[in-house]
Amino acid sequence: MLNEKTKELLNSQINKEFYSAYLYLAFANYFDNNGLDGFANYFKIQAQEERDHALLFLEFLQNNGILPMLEGIEKPNQNFSSIKEVLQEALNHEKYVTASINTIYDEAINNKDYRTTQFLDWFVKEQLEEEKSADDLLVKWDMYGEDKRSLYLLDKELSERVYTAPSLQL
Ligand code: FEO
Repeated sequence: MLNEKTKELLNSQINKEFYSAYLYLAFANYFDNNGLDGFANYFKIQAQEERDHALLFLEFLQNNGILPMLEGIEKPNQNFSSIKEVLQEALNHEKYVTASINTIYDEAINNKDYRTTQFLDWFVKEQLEEEKSADDLLVKWDMYGEDKRSLYLLDKELSERVYTAPSLQL
């Protein structure tokens, strides 16, 4: 069913999703260290979602009788000079993940591997939401982030985000 290239891409996606979790934890640490607990909460939950994504790829491989191979997780950038830099990096990273998912999708389509494309459909939709959320945050920052009172309110709004398990069932 799954060809070698698709298996390889799915396996490397496990690592990319765990790396995403690590990167978002680095963002959360930055915000925590700068007194923005709401932003820190937002990115901590984002990290939990990325871990979930990694586990979904891992379980999909297992369900197809494939042994996942865990690789080392790269150390993320932890030197940020501004809030804007972090928010921009979040958006850039989500675009990178979208491109990565699309590459797996292309391979599966070319191989008429509809089992994998059906699995990936959830991620295609999820990536739209992820990119939109990252972009929205950047737009808000650009509009009023420099204003202390507005930043306080935005931080408060982000502190209300709660973790929910992914809707995808394997
Ligand atoms: Fe799992 Fe934010 O992509």
